[in-house]
Amino acid sequence: MRGQLFVTGLVSAIFLTGTVFAHEGATGVVKERMDMMENLKSVMKTLAPMVKGQKEMDSQVVIEQAKIIRQNTGEVLLSKFPKDSIHGPSEALPEIWQEWDKFKGYNTKLSELGMALNEAAGDPDAVIATFKAIGGTCGACHKQFKKD
Ligand code: HEC
Repeated sequence: MRGQLFVTGLVSAIFLTGTVFAHEGATGVVKERMDMMENLKSVMKTLAPMVKGQKEMDSQVVIEQAKIIRQNTGEVLLSKFPKDSIHGPSEALPEIWQEWDKFKGYNTKLSELGMALNEAAGDPDAVIATFKAIGGTCGACHKQFKKD
């Protein structure tokens, strides 16, 4: 199935890039935002088998994951990106602060998609569509604002 292939590609693009220990040695806001990103990654990992049809859709789980997205985006995520905070193993790019509005836009979009995911719970097609939009938003922000 085309859709399934797309999702599989998307999920591997998000998870298989970067090293397992990218995190090692991170401190302060860099560590805090990496932890938030890891929480977002765990959302994708939890939802992927349901989206791929390998596991039954569970509305309760979808609602919980939607909440985790909202808790790890918005103002709280932005607060972990004070100006020019690139140190240690950070993979953040300086463009974040040069194009702050754009960076903020991706963050807002992801937060809104977290709300959309909450609304989609109970409707598998809507969950799948929202999941794809979420993956696309992670990827778009990373492509522009995170080192490969
Ligand atoms: C607003 C932009 C933006 C969005 C949206 C975004 N990320 Fe990130 N992400 C970043 C930046 C910037 C970094 C690099 C942070 C650093 O290393 O200082 C990062 C790093 C990561 C990392 C590596 C963390 C580590 O331990 O080094 C993972 C995993 C990740 N993001 C997953 C996701 C997932 C999954 C989504 C979508 C659900 C997502 N991100 C959405 C900007 C974003």
